[in-house]
Amino acid sequence: MSEALLKDKFSRTIRDLRISVTDRCNFRCFYCIPDEDIVWKRKQELLTYEEIILVAKIGVGLGIEKLRLTGGEPLVRRDIEYLIERLARIPGVRDLALTTNAFGLKERAAGLREAGLNRITISCDSLNAETFKTITRRDGLGEVLDGIEAVVNAGFEPPKVNCVVIRGLNDHEIADFADFAQKTGVRMRFIEYMPLDNGHQWDRSLLVGGREILSKISERHSITPINRDSPSETALRYVFSNGAAGEIGIIAPVTMPFCGACSRLRLTADGNLRTCLFSMVDHNIKDRIRRGDDEAAIREFLIDTVLKKEEGHRINEADFIQPARTMSFIGG
Ligand code: 5AD
Ligand code: SF4
Repeated sequence: MSEALLKDKFSRTIRDLRISVTDRCNFRCFYCIPDEDIVWKRKQELLTYEEIILVAKIGVGLGIEKLRLTGGEPLVRRDIEYLIERLARIPGVRDLALTTNAFGLKERAAGLREAGLNRITISCDSLNAETFKTITRRDGLGEVLDGIEAVVNAGFEPPKVNCVVIRGLNDHEIADFADFAQKTGVRMRFIEYMPLDNGHQWDRSLLVGGREILSKISERHSITPINRDSPSETALRYVFSNGAAGEIGIIAPVTMPFCGACSRLRLTADGNLRTCLFSMVDHNIKDRIRRGDDEAAIREFLIDTVLKKEEGHRINEADFIQPARTMSFIGG
């Protein structure tokens, strides 16, 4: 492991940088992107690939080991394969991953692999074509299923599949998703719905807690807990007791917060560092790069920013305030 120079006030070490490469998306998940009047960032507002690579290199020099590309939808940014190639070549990067909605992934999986990508995570909130459409406002389930197959055929390990569970919408599909994991070998990640939605419609009644998700799975399957790969891993992990392929993971940021072991820092598409999904402040790194700060100054800025990392989210506190930006701006 490289020397850990990004440490926060709560003794956490930052090892994981999530890079949003665009705020744009070809889906319109109701909780993420408003249907109309979207004002996308202009090209000049986005970090260029060279700027992203600069931040990543400096971060890796300070102990970051994992990079994850997100969006918006990262595959809609032109020639993302080029960025992947460049990031994969930074000495010290141990894991380079991508989170995608899988639209168009079938055609690109092999190229992504060739470019040096290590892992792919696919978002999929329903296995029912109609419900999928209701949630994403796109007819895209077929693309997702083809994408999963293509990822495996391209030589990646079976992808993680993120499913945000929302009461009344897809919570009746939890055990179906477990069947799907067995059938396809994917690693399911059931995620509690967080108050990061665009319409500020989130309310606790829509939340399906991790324990309830587990009990819905147990109605159909016997599962056995397994260890995390690292203490900062967000998911509680399970395998099927009958030895079937696939895996189950529960990500419960609301009912079982894991902030105490957080190792993450985020870079938004428009060049702001964010120390928490729920931060009320951005730390503008783009202006510093564009005004010509040297690498030493950017390094210091990263170190100082990490020192401002919040102890944790305050979703469960009476005075919680939802951040203005949704995942499409912050990056997952
Ligand atoms: N709560 C939980 N997960 C969310 N995501 C987007 N918005 C939310 C939310 N409010 C998920 C996406 C994607 C991942 C990056 O984050 O579905 O899989
Ligand atoms: Fe696009 Fe992902 Fe947001 Fe859905 S959740 S609109 S796929 S960025």
